[in-house]
Amino acid sequence: MTKHEAKQRIDKLKKEIEHHRYLYHVLDKAEISDAALDSLKNELVQLEEQFPELVTSDSPTQRVGGEALSTFAKVEHQTPMLSLNDAFSEEDLQAWVERLQRLDPAAAAKLDFFVETKIDGLAMSLIYENGVLTIGATRGNGRVGEDVTHNIRTIESVPLRLRPIPGRPLPARVEVRGEVYLTKKMFAQINAQRKKNDEPLYMNPRNTAAGSIRQLDPKMAAERDLQFLAYALPTDFGQKTHKEEHELLQILGFRTDPDDRFCTSLKEVIQFYHAIAKKREKLSCQIDGIVVQVNSNALFQRFGMVGKAPRGAIAVKFPAEQATTVVEDIQVQIGRTGALTPVAHLRPVQVAGSTVSRATLHNIDEIHRLGLKIGDTVIVEKAGDIIPDIVQVLPNLRTGRERTFRMPKTCPVCGSQTTRKASEVAYYCTNSACFGQQKERFYHVVSKKAFDIDGLGPKIIDQLLETQLMSTPADIFTLKEEELLQLEGFAEKSAQNLVNAIQVARHISLARFIFALGIRHVGEQTAVMLAECFGSFKKLQQATREELEAIHDVGPAAAESLRAYFADTANQQFLEQLLPLITITAPKKIRNSKLAGKSFLFTGSLQSMTREDAKNRVRELGGTVISTVSKQLDYLVVGDEAGSKLEKAKKLGITTLTEKVFLHMIRES
Ligand code: IVH
Repeated sequence: MTKHEAKQRIDKLKKEIEHHRYLYHVLDKAEISDAALDSLKNELVQLEEQFPELVTSDSPTQRVGGEALSTFAKVEHQTPMLSLNDAFSEEDLQAWVERLQRLDPAAAAKLDFFVETKIDGLAMSLIYENGVLTIGATRGNGRVGEDVTHNIRTIESVPLRLRPIPGRPLPARVEVRGEVYLTKKMFAQINAQRKKNDEPLYMNPRNTAAGSIRQLDPKMAAERDLQFLAYALPTDFGQKTHKEEHELLQILGFRTDPDDRFCTSLKEVIQFYHAIAKKREKLSCQIDGIVVQVNSNALFQRFGMVGKAPRGAIAVKFPAEQATTVVEDIQVQIGRTGALTPVAHLRPVQVAGSTVSRATLHNIDEIHRLGLKIGDTVIVEKAGDIIPDIVQVLPNLRTGRERTFRMPKTCPVCGSQTTRKASEVAYYCTNSACFGQQKERFYHVVSKKAFDIDGLGPKIIDQLLETQLMSTPADIFTLKEEELLQLEGFAEKSAQNLVNAIQVARHISLARFIFALGIRHVGEQTAVMLAECFGSFKKLQQATREELEAIHDVGPAAAESLRAYFADTANQQFLEQLLPLITITAPKKIRNSKLAGKSFLFTGSLQSMTREDAKNRVRELGGTVISTVSKQLDYLVVGDEAGSKLEKAKKLGITTLTEKVFLHMIRES
C-alpha cells in the first residue's frame, strides 16, 4: 500500500470508528458488534504502525497512549467554573422562582425552564482547538484547575474531534463543560476486585471517579471506564436557549442527559423532580438531585450571580441518603439457621425521607472492621430501599463512656451455647429446637419464594406459636377457621380468607418446596437445580453426598448440609407429618426428547460447538449437566484429549458418547 492509499484508508477508518462511537455513546444504539469495532480499530493500529507519520492526535488509537506524567499542569479557566445554590424542597424551589420574578417582573410572564439530572461526579472543562481536543481540565478552585487531558482522552464518550454542525462554522476554540463519572456497575466491579485483593474499599463512585481522573498514568484511568456527560456549551454558537445548547452538544458528538426536558411551568419542574426521584435507583449512575435552569440564555445572563453561583439556576437535591446518629445498643437477632446477627439500635434519624432506628451489622468481623462501640456516633447510609448500613464511626465524638460489644456466649432466646465454626464468620445457636430459630423458620416457610401464603405474616405466626396452635410448620396446613377466630384481630371473613390461602398454597413446585425447608446453603437457585436433577423429593432424600456434589451449582457445603438435614431424626419426623398434607409438583419434563431427564457431562474439547453451547442445548432439551462423574451420570460426552473423567466413567460402566453421536442425539430430539 502506498502512503497515499494508507492515508485515505486511515481517514475512512477514523470516520467510521467515530461514527460508531457516536451511535453507541450519544444515541445509545449500536449498529455493529464490539468485536467488529475492535477489528476496525486493529486495522487502524496496524496501518499507523506502518506509517507512523500519519498518526494524528484525534486518532482513536491515541486514547490510551503517552507516558505517565510526574505532575499536573495548571489550567486557567477562561470563564470561572461556578457552583450551584441548593434547594431541598418544593418550597425552596417556589421561593427561587419568586425571587427571579421580583428581580425582573417583565420576564416573569414568560419564564420557562430546562431541567436535567444532577450527576454525582466531577465537573470538567474540555477545550477543542480547530475541532480537536487539546485540554481537559478539572474545576479546581473554579478559576484554576488541573490539566488531566491524558486521562480525559481515555473516555470513549468524549469525542477527540468535534463533529461539524451543518450551516454553522466551528469557532477556533470551543469549550464544553460536563461531568465525569463512574457507573454504579463499574464502581461495584472495582470494589469487588479490591476486596479480592484485600485492598481497602472505595467509599462511593464520585470519589473513585475523582481518584481515577487524578491518576498520573492514563492506563489506570482507561481501566476504570469513566463516562462523560455534557451539560453546558459556554462557547457562542448563536444559541438562544439552554435547550438549544443541549441539542448543539449532541450534534458536536457529546452525550447529554437522556432524561432532560423543557418545562413551561414550575409544576412541570416538580413533576420532573418526582419522576427522576422514582427512577433514581434504576439509573446507571449516581445522581444527587436535578438541575433547573432558566431556559432563555439572555434572561439567565440578566439574572447575574449571587456569590459563586448563577441566580438563574438551582440544584434541587434529593433527601440525604446519609445521616449521623448514635448507636444506643447492639442486640443479637437469631436467624432460621441459628446464625446470630448483631443489630445496631439507633437513635431514630431521617435518612432518604424515612426514619431509621435499626441497622444490621452483619457479623462480628464487620463490627471490628468499623471499630464500632456501643454509644458511638456513626454515619448511616441507605442504598435504595434496602436496610440501612452503618458505613463509618466518628471516633472524635467519643465521650469515654462507650462500651465494647462482644458476641454472647449463650443464645439470647433459648440460653444454649453459641459456637463459631472455623471456616465461617457467623456465630450459631447450637440448639435446633430454639424458639427464636423456629419462629424464623416459620417466617421463611410462608415467604414469597417458598409456600407464599398471603395473610400469614410474622404477627400472626407469633400469636399462633404463643397460643400453641402450631408447633411445627406442618401445623399450618391443618389450621381451622375456629382456631384462627380465637386470635386477636381475626373475624370470620379474615379467618376464611387465610384458610383459603393455605388451601391454595398446599400445591407447591418441587423447587419451592426444597427452598421452603430452609436448609442452610440451599438458596433459591440451588433448590431449582436440585429439583431439576432429581425430579422428585424422594430421590433427593435418598441422594448420597457424592451424588449431590456432582450437581452443577451444588457445592460441598450445601451437599453436607442437605445430607445432615435428611439424617436428622427431628427433620424426618417433621417431613413425615408434612408430606401427606401437601402436593408437590415435579418439574416439567420436555417430552419426546431423548435428553429429557438424562444427565450429561462433557470431557475433552468439542469440534463443532463450544462447551457452553453444548451444555445449553442439553438444558434446552430437558437434560441436566453435572460436573463430576458419579453413578448418577447417564452420558459422558467425550471430545478430543479426554482425561481422567473417561477412565472413571468406564470403571463405573457409564455410557460414553462421541461428539458425532451426541450431535446426532440432539438433532433427533
Ligand atoms: S450545571 C453553574 N448541570 O453540580 C454551574 N451541573 O453544584 C453549572 N453537576 O460543579 C452547572 N450535573 O459539576 C450542571 N446536569 C448538570 C450537572 C451539574 C452535575 C455538578 C457540576 C457543578 C455542580 C454544581
